Amino acid sequence: MNILFMGPPGAGKGTQAERIVEEFSVPHISTGDAFRLAMKQGTAIGLKAKEYIDQGLLVPDEITNGIVKERLALDDCKNGFLLDGFPRTLQQAEALDGMLAELNRGIDHVVNLKVDRGLLLARLTGRRICKSCGSTYHVMFNPPKVEGICDKDGGELYQRSDDTEEKVGTRLDEYTSKTAPLLDYYSTKGLLREVDGEKDIEVVTSEIVSCLRGSL
Ligand code: AP5
Ligand code: ZN
Repeated sequence: MNILFMGPPGAGKGTQAERIVEEFSVPHISTGDAFRLAMKQGTAIGLKAKEYIDQGLLVPDEITNGIVKERLALDDCKNGFLLDGFPRTLQQAEALDGMLAELNRGIDHVVNLKVDRGLLLARLTGRRICKSCGSTYHVMFNPPKVEGICDKDGGELYQRSDDTEEKVGTRLDEYTSKTAPLLDYYSTKGLLREVDGEKDIEVVTSEIVSCLRGSL
């Protein structure tokens, strides 16, 4: 199954992707995670992406499209994939259609997680991530058993540098102007599945699973 996750920053795409890839045994492809890894490794792409990410702006399409094209061509995507955070502009959506056509594949479902803007700020500023396995927590909504420590592997939790109040504002504006219009693009194609992302994490997961299995 070929799945896209859409939704504003903080809607829960990463949180739900961790669960859905286990359920459907497909790889999780997050452009945000790919950029953060490249930044940590100090590669040319990482250095370029950092200029934009540090300001809360989208990374230019040609850089982002290149990363996704390489990733989708790998063997583990043959039986499906979950793309999280891509596409985010109309140009990226059209580029993705081209990449999939070359591979003789298509998109099965586009899941849009709907969350009100007011809640997104609280979600993002309270988010914490494990340094060793990347699992996502929230200081209030999804706290680890021991403060600052990952439940799964004891890794140290940290806060993303773009999760400050000021940068979150810019990211939400980027979403509204450049990414939200894509919902119409996929709705017209009959692929869009809307899920209420404000419910509890487990409830959202089961609604996505029902949606993907076709019973919603
Ligand atoms: P990226 O890493 O993709 O960030 P994002 O889209 O801003 O999304 P987030 O990761 O912030 O949120 P999420 O929806 O995954 O929420 P999460 O599950 O963590 O991108 C970062 C940057 O990279 C971009 O700003 C851009 O510069 C660049 N970039 C990436 N892709 C690009 C592209 N295609 N084109 C150009 N540039 C690109 O949840 C958030 C918090 O809420 C967590 O603490 C979680 O525990 C909590 N939470 C989740 N669900 C619930 C729930 N149901 N109830 C209560 N709490 C919840
Ligand atoms: Zn961990």
